Amino acid sequence: MKKDNPLSAGAPKTLVPQPNVLVIFGGDGDLAWRKLLPAIYNLNVDGVLPSHFAVVCFGIASTEEGRNADDADAYIRARARDGISRFSRQPLDENHWADFARALFFVPGSFGDAKAYEQLKAKLEPLDQQFGIPGSRVYYLSIPPHLVKTCVEHLKASGLVSSPNEEQAFTRVIVEKPIGRDLESAREVIRNVAVAFDESQTYRIDHYLGKETVQNLLVLRFANSIFEPLWNQKYIDHVQITVAEDEGLAQFDPDTGRMTSSRAGYFEGVGALRDMVQNHMLQVLCVAAMEPPYSLDPDVVRDAKAEVLHCLKLMSPADVKKSVVRGQYIEGDSHGKRVPGYRHEVRKYFEELAKRPVPPEAVNSTTETFVALRVFIDNWRWSGVPFYLRTGKRLPKRASEVAIQFKEVPQVLFNAHPDIPLDPTVLCVHVQPEEGLSMRIASKLPGPKPRIYPVKMEFNYSSSFGGSSPEAYERLLLDVMAGDATLFMRRDAVEAAWQFVMPILESWEHERVLNLPEYQCGTWGPVEADRLIEADGREWRTL
Ligand code: BG6
Repeated sequence: MKKDNPLSAGAPKTLVPQPNVLVIFGGDGDLAWRKLLPAIYNLNVDGVLPSHFAVVCFGIASTEEGRNADDADAYIRARARDGISRFSRQPLDENHWADFARALFFVPGSFGDAKAYEQLKAKLEPLDQQFGIPGSRVYYLSIPPHLVKTCVEHLKASGLVSSPNEEQAFTRVIVEKPIGRDLESAREVIRNVAVAFDESQTYRIDHYLGKETVQNLLVLRFANSIFEPLWNQKYIDHVQITVAEDEGLAQFDPDTGRMTSSRAGYFEGVGALRDMVQNHMLQVLCVAAMEPPYSLDPDVVRDAKAEVLHCLKLMSPADVKKSVVRGQYIEGDSHGKRVPGYRHEVRKYFEELAKRPVPPEAVNSTTETFVALRVFIDNWRWSGVPFYLRTGKRLPKRASEVAIQFKEVPQVLFNAHPDIPLDPTVLCVHVQPEEGLSMRIASKLPGPKPRIYPVKMEFNYSSSFGGSSPEAYERLLLDVMAGDATLFMRRDAVEAAWQFVMPILESWEHERVLNLPEYQCGTWGPVEADRLIEADGREWRTL
């Protein structure tokens, strides 16, 4: 049985995950190892997968062991077991593991090689028989965007894609981010997928939409009567959305100083605006700011979200200067340890690639690892309300939240003294790591004098519901198997998000970066980010 999805509650038809083979392109890559295979394992433990189900990982083995493996299935099972023991939210249990592993397979092959698709097909057909699957497939494209075209064309040419009207043996495709690096390339990725897959078969994943607390934001807004009447420019002063990460782009062994892993190859030249704002943060903003949809039909919900993106005020070059700050981390202290700056990480990455030393002066990256911006939504509900967004790597801690700050009470009664303003009410959705909600309200301090003190009302997921919440990928994978597209990005939303981001990217491109603001690792970003919000008489929340 499918777990309750708040967005499916009361939906006209019951959507349950249907039997299928999940084929993960790039199935022994980083995402599969850390997130996807552990997510499927957890779904297995929770007993919510379809009863007829198997997983096939497909692609060139990315590790030395994989390339030398005699038994490809045994290799992927060992790799999955390793990923699950490290990253799974529920511990590895031998019985569940055995059940999961018997339905996990690997087909090694190059994405550009037609023969590899024949081998994939040859693997899939007997699996249908063995597991009682009616030929349904979910293809998960966990691959770099430049490979999408090739994969989709080969899938089509090998007869591995069914028609969108086919219900018994359906084919669906999950497309991972990044969807392009600008509007034009995003459109190209979208077109390339559309060569073989109808929009109704396409699920563009943004894992932030699968996070419990992001979904709960909708429930909070539309299942409680007290918030919606206040959810507008009349009562809300501003909104802050923060996604802070403490990790950098590379990990180093604390003893030897050797680089153990790096995402610099992906991140360099991409930056935080494309990596986090264009997708995750704008999607969260949509959920916080959308109009109440008139039904829970996936397209009605997605229309309401897309409308927010269409109402975002596009920035002129002057606005970009005033309202967007970027920064890059330099050496500093993270959790009490000295850690290197971003450029050093990039240099180490290039050294590994080139297998020779690279001088520091050869790396003068201007890729932003931090970005803060002031955004306006031009509609009646939000006119004049700033939304402040900030995200960065190597900040003091991992913490994400959406904070709604209400307007101050009039300057009479308890707020009469201009030098001691009352702290305004703040409703905060804690997205991670401590999932929950809190509301800061003013309260009277016990005692004879009328002294006021801010207190917090709190709801915490783990103490209220016990256990750990499902990971975003768990929910989203089940939704694809059930054919529920509510939490996935429609092509118009992807394009609208790029349309908003493009003037910022273009303005940065035209302006030579002489002094990219810097911040030390373990701090809350460059001082310019503080100035941005302080110029409006406000300040960033302390997380
Ligand atoms: C990914 C970004 O999409 O999201 C990463 O590419 C980022 O740079 C990650 O670290 C954050 O996801 P989460 O779920 O850990 O907050």
